[in-house]
Amino acid sequence: MLDLNELATCTRCQLSLTRQRVVIGSGPNTPQLMVIGEAPGRSEDEGGEPFIGRSGQLLFRLLLEELGVTRRECFVTNVVKCRPPQNRTPTFLEIKTCRPWLDEQLALVTPRAILTLGNTASRAVFGFASPMGAVHGRVVQLGGVPGVATYHPAAALRGGSSVVQVMRRDLAVLRQLLDAS
Ligand code: URA
Ligand code: SF4
Repeated sequence: MLDLNELATCTRCQLSLTRQRVVIGSGPNTPQLMVIGEAPGRSEDEGGEPFIGRSGQLLFRLLLEELGVTRRECFVTNVVKCRPPQNRTPTFLEIKTCRPWLDEQLALVTPRAILTLGNTASRAVFGFASPMGAVHGRVVQLGGVPGVATYHPAAALRGGSSVVQVMRRDLAVLRQLLDAS
């Protein structure tokens, strides 16, 4: 068992050498949603909070429009808590080494539903082996909590309105889950 109080000073993997700040994540202990991304980007590494850059702006606009859920009603975090250099994808070893921290958070937080963003988070959290195109919008269960994977908002910023449309449909699945529970 790790003590979450020690996360801010973690040196379990090499990302501790290049990060500015550990981006722990935050939110209520019983949020509407637990939102899990890949790893901090530059804005997050500087600001110390997840999804405070451009991806986050799009993400929370879509959550508000499709679910009526605000950032304050979400527990927001990432699979990997420190920024990889040049925003490269975290390695398998980094994901594995950081995992106990996410497990502590999953044990602590009781959301009504879980949303993962992008391949890295969706694989790590839900165990999906197929690419996002095959698994997005599918309802899965994690410890009795329903979850849905969708594209990463950074992919939507690159890919444009067609990706945003798919994300909106995935979020509509999530809305049905919240409405039904
Ligand atoms: N992308 C992520 O996956 N997480 C963040 O916190 C910011 C951008
Ligand atoms: Fe520790 Fe995770 Fe940061 Fe690696 S990425 S140093 S395991 S908090």
